[in-house]
Amino acid sequence: MSVFAAAIAVESGSCLALRHLTSMEFLGFSLRNQLFVAPMAGVTDRPFRQLCKRMGAGLAVSEMVTSNSLLYGSMKTQRRANHAGELAPISVQIAGASPSMMAAAAHYNVERGAQIIDINMGCPAKKICNVMAGSALLRDEPLVRQILEAVVNAVPGTPVTLKIRTGWDKNSRNALSILEIAEQSGIRALAMHGRTRACGYSGQAEYETIRAAKAIATIPIIANGDIGSPEQAKHVLDTTHADALMIGRAAQGRPWLFREIEHFLNTGTHLPPPLVSEIHEVLLEHLEDLYLFYGVDTGVGIARKHISWYTRGLVGSAAFRHRMNQLPTIELQRQAVHDFFSALAEHHEHLSYVSSAPSPHANFEDLAA
Ligand SMILES: Cc1cc2nc3c(=O)[nH]c(=O)nc-3n(C[C@H](O)[C@H](O)[C@H](O)COP(=O)(O)O)c2cc1C
Repeated sequence: MSVFAAAIAVESGSCLALRHLTSMEFLGFSLRNQLFVAPMAGVTDRPFRQLCKRMGAGLAVSEMVTSNSLLYGSMKTQRRANHAGELAPISVQIAGASPSMMAAAAHYNVERGAQIIDINMGCPAKKICNVMAGSALLRDEPLVRQILEAVVNAVPGTPVTLKIRTGWDKNSRNALSILEIAEQSGIRALAMHGRTRACGYSGQAEYETIRAAKAIATIPIIANGDIGSPEQAKHVLDTTHADALMIGRAAQGRPWLFREIEHFLNTGTHLPPPLVSEIHEVLLEHLEDLYLFYGVDTGVGIARKHISWYTRGLVGSAAFRHRMNQLPTIELQRQAVHDFFSALAEHHEHLSYVSSAPSPHANFEDLAA
């Protein structure tokens, strides 16, 4: 059973299978399409989630929020639980290894506006795995069941979803047993990154395990891993038959990727690259949101990371980034971005990359702190 009703049409005279990504139902919510923003600690804060939704994502999962109640009062945790003005549905990811603490965290976040609770069993960061949370949990199936049941029971009426990797390592790829446990525990959808924990981010994601899960699942399956272009999105949909796609690193500095994929899946044709003038405006607005959300000092640092991602691969951007990274204030940072894009617009109407498309591959351990 799938709650997604993606219409698939085959264009007469060609083999091109078009998937019409129209508004669709997911766990009781009407989504624009089946393209999801992956949870990324240090990246998918409220400003970025809002922007991705505006630029074509159907759903965006928050950065993980700790289940350690001692940290509820910390600035970082409070910021991560701030959903003011966010477009529904608000999906909040929680991480931890204690069933009772995870249950309490789910309840706490639902009281603060979460409409979907997502459980993190996919994160390979050492900081998370050393306390037996994230993907480390995949090694302990009885504990997985206890956590899932505790969380589902703690938030009756709120859908709970799960995010996993395919297993701990290639000798223990137990995603299909985890799927079964998830279904029996009342989990409503499963997102799967096509790598084991041991893979980290190396090699290519594999989609066979996701395809096998989809073939037996009674809940929606969301495919994740290495989707960086409209063609890759189509390839992963065709291979896995997943109900939705989840995109992480490729959306960093490129939130318009969602509308590009949506357009390609609907029409089989590519949108032209965005106008330089549009992205100039989008980035400046994104910066203002970050300054407001994080405050002046933290805001400048967070903004630097996003500016680097937006400009990676653009003509003349290396020298620009080098200069921009030294700028200490909002005013100087804003002005530098404005000057860079104004100069770019004198020579290019549309964004044009020196190499093909940029593929930012952030260092997880650095950013997931
Ligand atoms: C910087 C960064 C932070 C991440 N943080 C989380 C997280 O908080 N929770 C989680 O489940 N996965 C996290 N991930 C994993 C992503 O959600 C996703 O599964 C992974 O990046 C593979 O998808 P991609 O190839 O589209 O990037 C993170 C990944 C990155 C790069």
